[in-house]
Parts: sequence; structure tokens; C-alpha cells
Amino acid sequence: FSLRALNTFGIDARAQAYLAVDGPDILRAVRNDAGLAGLPRLVLGGGSNLLLTRDFPGLVLHMCGRGIAVVGEDSEFTYVRAAAGENWHGFVQWTLAQGLGGLENLSLIPGSVGAVPIQNIGAYGVEVKDRFHSLTAFDFSTGEVIVLDGPACRFGYRDSVFKHALRDNAVVLDVTFALPRKWQANANYADVAQALVDRQITEPSARDIADAVIAIRTRKLPDPAQIGNAGSFFKNPIVSAQQREALLAQHAGLVSYRQDDGRYKLAAGWLIDQCGWKGRSLGAAGVYEKQALVLVNRGGASGAEVAALARAIQADVRGKFGVELEPEPVFV
Ligand code: EPU
Repeated sequence: FSLRALNTFGIDARAQAYLAVDGPDILRAVRNDAGLAGLPRLVLGGGSNLLLTRDFPGLVLHMCGRGIAVVGEDSEFTYVRAAAGENWHGFVQWTLAQGLGGLENLSLIPGSVGAVPIQNIGAYGVEVKDRFHSLTAFDFSTGEVIVLDGPACRFGYRDSVFKHALRDNAVVLDVTFALPRKWQANANYADVAQALVDRQITEPSARDIADAVIAIRTRKLPDPAQIGNAGSFFKNPIVSAQQREALLAQHAGLVSYRQDDGRYKLAAGWLIDQCGWKGRSLGAAGVYEKQALVLVNRGGASGAEVAALARAIQADVRGKFGVELEPEPVFV
């Protein structure tokens, strides 16, 4: 079974078996099936955050469940639930059309709703954990459907329990978001603030912010339908204040952001750019011309080629800055 159409990198890897999943019943059946239960599993949503480095000798579970609904309300929040298979951007636009703000900064992020909590997606000053209420997941270790709240998901920067303790066993079925009834614009991020100034908008609505974010993303990030990619390929590395000082002394242009704990997040795109990688290629894998943090498939790249490019970039950044870059997508 070819996975080419199921990953945004457009990598032509194959899987041994495939199942479209629309709820827990089919997962229960897999768990009870002698032939299927023992196979390695790969859960796929929009396939926008993974790198297939070779064929997958197991069962692909393609999350296809649909459905979006307002499920409750209290004095502070409106609660909205979406099934794992819903397209994330489509869901965000639906909430905005209902007059529900809160997710607008996360417009145009590729992928499905079920994938969103796995890496706690974030953009332009908002992370999914800031709007998260709970999720349900099928637990292959017990065969039960479990409910996890925010703390149980252990969200971190592009990180959650689903990349660690629950990595091989939990399959997200649906996610419930808590959208603030007293909405406030979050337009502090420089690019967003600038886009609003350009449009002469001083009191932006949630829709205005969504439109600004969509314009910025369209300008800087490649559309996976046109050029295979998985968004930012590396996390922005976090270093001590001391290490940042030392780097700044040697590289005056270093882009860094102070964290709540006093450490600093470095712009990995800037580091890669400084190493001269922007726009370059290694085989059929390349570094996007407009954003050095994004690796692209220039046509027919294998996962191994993308991984080789990633290693070359990591080695250069290590050599020039002494900083370790950690990939963001899940390697399969
Ligand atoms: N920069 C360069 N050269 C480049 C790219 C960036 O000098 O080639 C500099 C920019 O000038 C800027 C800084 O690096 O000063 C940061 O760039 P940008 O604002 O584009 O954001 P980012 O740090 O590259 C992060 C997220 C994105 C998210 C944006 C906006 C990560 C790994 N990436 O990118 O998320 O959309 O901020 O909030 O945290 C994703 O995770 O897939 C993703 C796209």
C-alpha cells in the first residue's frame, strides 16, 4: 500500500496493511484480531508531521472520523469538539464562522485535528495547550477509551505525552477545545502586528487576525500540495542565558527569545540560514528558499535523502554555533 498521498512530504514509502479508522470500534477489532494485533502500528492523520524514512512493515491506521460540534458552555468558555479526522484549518475556520475566537492564530497549519495535541502545535504566540480542554483516545494497552485533560497530556514546546509514555499505544479519537467567551486579540507577534498595521487595522477581530496569519504563512511557508514538506523541520533550540551571551558575543545578529524560565529560544531558521543552507539541496531534498527551517522534497526525494540533508544541516550548525538541532517531525 503506497503512503505517498498520505504524507505531506510526498514520500513514496509503502505499508504492509492499511485501515481507515472512524472510531474506537474498528480499533477494538484490530486489538482482538490475532493477525493484526501483533503488527507495528502507524497512526496517520494529515501526515503533515512525519518523515517516512523507509517502508513500514506494519499496519497504517488512517484517522478518518469526521464531526464538529459545540458541546457546552459556561461563564468563561465555549467548548467545541472535533473528531480526529477533521482537517485542522477547516475546523479553525468553522469556529471563526460561528463567531468563536481563540484559534485564529493557528490558521492554515496543515494536518488533522487528531495530530494537533501530539506535538502541541503553535504559531504566532498561541499554542494548542492554551485552548485545550480534553481529548479522548483509544488505549491499545487496555482496549479502553480514555479521557485526558491538559495536565495529563504533559504539553511542552512541540511535545506531549503522546511522544513519550503513550507513544505506541494511544490513538486520539477527538479533541475538545475551550474557547474564551471574553475574546482578546493576541497580535503581539511581530509579523502579525506588522500585517495589521499594513492593513490599517487597529482593533482587529479574530477574523482579521486569521487573515493576517494566512497571508504571512502563504508568503513564508510552502504549500504541501505544491512542494512536499512538513513545516518546520527542526525545533527552535533552547539554550542557557550564559550560552546565549557567548553566542551573541560572536554573532551579533543572533535571533533569540527569552523564556519564562530565563533561558533563551534561538531561531533555528536563522542558524541554518547563517550556515548558508537556505535554498540549497542535497539530492532531491532541499532547504526552502523563503524559510530555512523548512526542508522540502524537490521531487521524488526518499525519506533517507531528507534525513541525510537534516544530518548535514545539524552537523554544520553544531560546528558553527555548538548548538544541537532536534527534528520536529516524527521519524518512522
Ligand atoms: N529567520 C532567518 N532565516 C530564515 C528563517 C528565519 O533569519 O531562513 C529568522 C527570522 O527573520 C526571524 C526568526 O528567524 O527573526 C524566526 O522566524 P519565523 O518568525 O519565521 O518563525 P520560526 O521560529 O522559524 C516558528 C515555528 C513555526 C511557526 C512560526 C510562527 C517552530 C519550530 N516553528 O518558526 O511553526 O509557524 O514560529 O509562530 O517553533 C511548525 O512548527 O511547523 C511551524 C511552521
